[in-house]
Amino acid sequence: MHCNYFGLCGSCTLYDMDYETQLAYKVEQIKAQFGIDSLDIIRSRPEHFRTRAEFRIFHDYDNSTISYAMHGFERKQIVPIESCSIVSEAIAKMMPKLLDAISQNDMLRHRLYSVEFLSSSTEEVLVTLIYHKKIDETWLHEAQKVAEGLQIDLIGRSRGIKLVVTKEHIHESLQIDGKAYRFRLYDTGFTQPNTYVNAQMIGWVKQHVGHHGSDLLELYCGHGNFTIPLSEQFGKVLATEISKRSIQSAKENCALNSVENIAFVRLSAEELTQALRKERTFNRLRDVDLDAYNFSHVFVDPPRAGLNEETREFVQQFGHIIYISCNPETLLRDLESLKKDYSVEHFAVFDQFAYTKHLECGVILKKR
Ligand SMILES: C[S@@+](CC[C@H](N)C(=O)[O-])C[C@H]1O[C@@H](n2cnc3c(N)ncnc32)[C@H](O)[C@@H]1O
Repeated sequence: MHCNYFGLCGSCTLYDMDYETQLAYKVEQIKAQFGIDSLDIIRSRPEHFRTRAEFRIFHDYDNSTISYAMHGFERKQIVPIESCSIVSEAIAKMMPKLLDAISQNDMLRHRLYSVEFLSSSTEEVLVTLIYHKKIDETWLHEAQKVAEGLQIDLIGRSRGIKLVVTKEHIHESLQIDGKAYRFRLYDTGFTQPNTYVNAQMIGWVKQHVGHHGSDLLELYCGHGNFTIPLSEQFGKVLATEISKRSIQSAKENCALNSVENIAFVRLSAEELTQALRKERTFNRLRDVDLDAYNFSHVFVDPPRAGLNEETREFVQQFGHIIYISCNPETLLRDLESLKKDYSVEHFAVFDQFAYTKHLECGVILKKR
C-alpha cells in the first residue's frame, strides 16, 4: 500500500513493510508469545479497510483554511493530511467533499475540532462534527444543507450538546456463509473497525462452535454483532452488555433479522455474575427466567483489560469458552488461568488493525 504519510502520521506504526510482511511479523510474535506452532490467520484487505475513523481538524494561522490532521509519532505533533489509504473507499471519497463544503461555510468551520466517520459496506456514511463552541439551530440549518448535498447522515456535538441533522445510525449488511445479516450502527456504542475482517471473524466462530440444542451466554455483546449470527446454532441465548445504547441497538438488530431466541439485557459482566449466582436480583431481569437456561457455551469479547478475576472464575463453570480478544497481553494472562481445566481447540488471529502492531485473537476452549 502506498501512503504519502507513512512514517509521519503516528496511526500506522508498521509502515515500512508491505501487507504480507507486516502480517507475518505479527503472527510470529503471537506464536512466540503463546508458545503455539499453528493457528488460523484471517487477513484484512491490504488497503481501505477501516470503516470507522477519526481525524483532528487543523486550522491555519489566520483561521481561513482547514485540513484533516493526525497525531505524529510525538504525541503533541500534528500532521496535516489530505487523504488516508486505510479508511474505507466510502470514507476516502467523502473526505475531500466534506472538507470542501465545511471550508466554504464559516458557521460549520469555526472552532471545528475533529471529525468522526462511520461507513458501511452499503456505502452509507455517518459523520459527526465535534466543536469547541456551542452549536444551535443556526448551525443545524447550515449543516442540513451539507447533509443533503453530500447525501450523508450528519451529527453535531459540542460539550453537553448533540444535534442530529438527519439520523444517528447507518445500516450494515454482513455476508457470512452466503447469508446476509443486517445491523444498525450508531455513532456511539462499540462497532468493529474493520468490517471485512469482522465478517470473517464471525464466520470463523460459527464454523468452529457447531450446532447445539443447549444455550449460549454472552457477556460483552455490543450491538449483537456475534450474538445474532450465532443464535441460530443454539436453543436460546442470553446476551448482556454494559452500554445502554448498545443494548438498545442490539434489540433493534434482533428485530431487523427476525430473531426470537435472544434476550438482550443491560448488565455489566460483574452484575450478570451476581445475578446468576443468585447473590443479587435486578429489575432489568424481571422478564427473564434465568432458571430456564441450560448454558453449554459462554462467549466473551471484553475490552482491552480482558476479564477481571471474578469474571475469569465465573466463566469456568461452562463446558466451552469462546474468547475474542483485542489485547494479546490480557488474553495470555486469562489463558494461564483457564488452561488449567480447559484445552485450546482452535486459535486464530484476525488482522483488524493492519500496519499497526495489534492483532485480534480468537480462542475456543473446551473443558477437559
Ligand atoms: C470489544 S467490544 C465487543 C462488542 C461486540 N462483541 C462486538 O463485536 O461488537 C467490548 C464491549 O464490552 C462492553 N463492556 C465494557 N465493559 C463491560 C463490562 N464491565 N461488562 C459488560 N460489558 C462491558 C463495551 O460496551 C463493548 O460493547
